[in-house]
Amino acid sequence: MENNRLILTQKLTKIYSMGQHQLYALKEVDLSFGPGEFAGLVGPSGSGKTTFLNIVGSLDIPSKGKVEVLGRQIETLSHKQAAELRKRHIGFIFQTFNLLPVYTVFENVEFPLILLGVPASERRQRVMEALEWVKLADRANSRPSQLSGGECQRVAIARAIVKKPALILADEPTANLDAQNSHNILQIMVRLNQELGTTFIFATHDEKVIGYLKRKITLVDGKVTKDEIFSSPPVMEGHHESP
Ligand SMILES: Nc1ncnc2c1ncn2[C@@H]1O[C@H](COP(=O)(O)OP(=O)(O)OP(=O)(O)O)[C@@H](O)[C@H]1O
Ligand SMILES: [Mg+2]
Repeated sequence: MENNRLILTQKLTKIYSMGQHQLYALKEVDLSFGPGEFAGLVGPSGSGKTTFLNIVGSLDIPSKGKVEVLGRQIETLSHKQAAELRKRHIGFIFQTFNLLPVYTVFENVEFPLILLGVPASERRQRVMEALEWVKLADRANSRPSQLSGGECQRVAIARAIVKKPALILADEPTANLDAQNSHNILQIMVRLNQELGTTFIFATHDEKVIGYLKRKITLVDGKVTKDEIFSSPPVMEGHHESP
């Protein structure tokens, strides 16, 4: 664990200045994550979940404390180095999908590979492989406006996994999905976690997501109040909710 850990935060603190006040979004958070984790941050709105994911994803910087991600100290990276880390090693999945509307499904998933300079023929193969994972290979030429919400989120997953990142950060990925689509995308993510060893860290309120977690970290007012590990495997077949 010590040597192959993916993430270590030490007294991670984020302070936002709001005029006269200082708002502590994270207070001395000490957490570590190893490879292959399927973990979630839960807790009330405003407890710091998104702030934590953004800092670990090098989209934001800590005010105090240390954050190591894949052997790099986030607080010491230049903009360019942070962009490089994200581009190569981190996939993001957001509540609102963030697909590019004028591009096709294929082009949306291809985009991270263009940034990485992957040659066209290899891109084609890897994009199609990622689309097969999310069962959308037959929709490669559609545009996001022609897809359902659940299908759009599956495209966003394909875009996050196409570069086979070590780490995927997912902020409320099921917030815009119905129960059936939520279970579908969670089962895809569990399979990626099991078969490719991709580490997932979620921020979520959704009980459906929480039911799949192997580790649940509770944040309250920017502090970790609970860190629970579940030994039983996530439910992969069937569920007790009506679609
Ligand atoms: N850019 C910002 N400027 C000022 N305050 C901010 C900023 N971003 C977040 N905050 C504050 O930091 C705190 C933590 O916000 P954060 O978005 O991390 O919460 P969250 O746990 O993700 O909540 P939610 O469940 O509603 O998504 C909140 O009080 C929020 O208002
Ligand atoms: Mg949030």
